[in-house]
Amino acid sequence: MELTVNGTKYQVDVVPQMPLLWVLRDELGITSAKYGCGIAQCGACTVHVDGRAVRSCQAPVGAISGKPITTIEGLSNGDLHPVQKAWIEHQVPQCGYCQIGQIMQAVSFLELKPDPTDEDIDLVMSGNLCRCGTYARIRTAIHAAAAKMAER
Ligand code: FES
Ligand code: FES
Repeated sequence: MELTVNGTKYQVDVVPQMPLLWVLRDELGITSAKYGCGIAQCGACTVHVDGRAVRSCQAPVGAISGKPITTIEGLSNGDLHPVQKAWIEHQVPQCGYCQIGQIMQAVSFLELKPDPTDEDIDLVMSGNLCRCGTYARIRTAIHAAAAKMAER
């Protein structure tokens, strides 16, 4: 089947039931999305399909063929996305393992909710687990990114 990832078309010879995460990592060598739980409970594997956050460990690739897939490498053209910049400015990551998924979730969230409250952020981002406990900095960075995106 044909997949479009970050604007590039790929042909992959896989069974339609294979999770997107496996296709990205093992077939295409795009390893930014991480394997955490494999059961759609941690968010480490979050990517965008058609602009929305999706848990790629539980997304059969056959259901996605034809829809645009974005990993963190494709979030922006050249420059970093405002969410990535806010993550750096506020030094969000600790070990980093969960952070790609956190950023992909946050970007998708801000598209839907450009001016979120603390409660909005906590509700949405609580589905992305961080063993290092970076939640407070994630909240701060999302507010900062929202402010920057509102200026655009
Ligand atoms: S690895 Fe997909 S949600 Fe945990
Ligand atoms: S930064 Fe370590 S798990 Fe989130």
